Amino acid sequence: MNSVAPQNLVDAKPLEFPIPAGVYAEQVVSVTHYTDNLFAFRITRPQSFRFRSGEFVMIGLPNAEKPVFRAYSIASPAWDEELEFFSIKVPDGPLTQHLQKIQPGDTVLLRQKSTGTLVLDALTPAKRLYMISTGTGIAPFASLLRDPETYEKFEEVILTHTCRDVAELTYGEELARAAAEDPLIGELTDGRFRHYSTTTREEHPRTGRITTLIENRRLFSDLGVAPFDAATDRVMICGSMDMIKDVKTLVEGFGFEEGSNNKPSHFVVERAFVG
Ligand code: A2P
Repeated sequence: MNSVAPQNLVDAKPLEFPIPAGVYAEQVVSVTHYTDNLFAFRITRPQSFRFRSGEFVMIGLPNAEKPVFRAYSIASPAWDEELEFFSIKVPDGPLTQHLQKIQPGDTVLLRQKSTGTLVLDALTPAKRLYMISTGTGIAPFASLLRDPETYEKFEEVILTHTCRDVAELTYGEELARAAAEDPLIGELTDGRFRHYSTTTREEHPRTGRITTLIENRRLFSDLGVAPFDAATDRVMICGSMDMIKDVKTLVEGFGFEEGSNNKPSHFVVERAFVG
């Protein structure tokens, strides 16, 4: 009679390449495809992996001796037992052409150190926090809006998310709904968190680039609040390079100064990483 190997050894897919030093090898827990271009996935979290909500980490796949790593904002909050990421699919992207095919049980590599500027520590205290995002730039805010510390620091939290199409807004809408329904987070966000989504290339109740909606003050009239004021408001910005440049110029026009970990101030920016 043949001996039977333990189940986990039978199921385990052998890694073709050794894990590089300073890297965690984690398992994919779930994958959700939103559009042809967007997907989210959750992986196991190493017990020793600590990060601040809003930070990013380098991610890769064990498919080469020197794997390609790309920076990904962590979309899950710091208290979550798993790690969540929201990604674009680039057909020829060195990482995402492979990453978009991952399945539960597959291995994802994670560098051990997280970092980033979209953190609460980089902002001075104020009443209202704006998180302004386009596309996958919503990811760090998916983390921050589920972190109780955000609501300890700010009375009101406003997330803006602009995408080309309605379907691309789905991740953010599900996120806002899930946060509202969560027994713990829902208590914090109740009446204090608002989600403001717009599209630029498809019909939707709200259309237009966020830069236009700031310039023509429509954002503020829709929300029923006064325009940006450095005395009461703080702003975090995440999207493409061009979007960041343009929103940054606008908020600077309102007299806001850029903050950092070492010198907290009125606003912070982080590029949404793609590849
Ligand atoms: P638009 O459709 O007018 O280009 P992308 O997928 O190219 O990153 O764009 C995501 C969203 O960000 C789109 O709705 C796009 O609007 C918008 N966007 C692109 N560039 C800018 C910018 N410089 N300022 C504000 N919004 C931008």
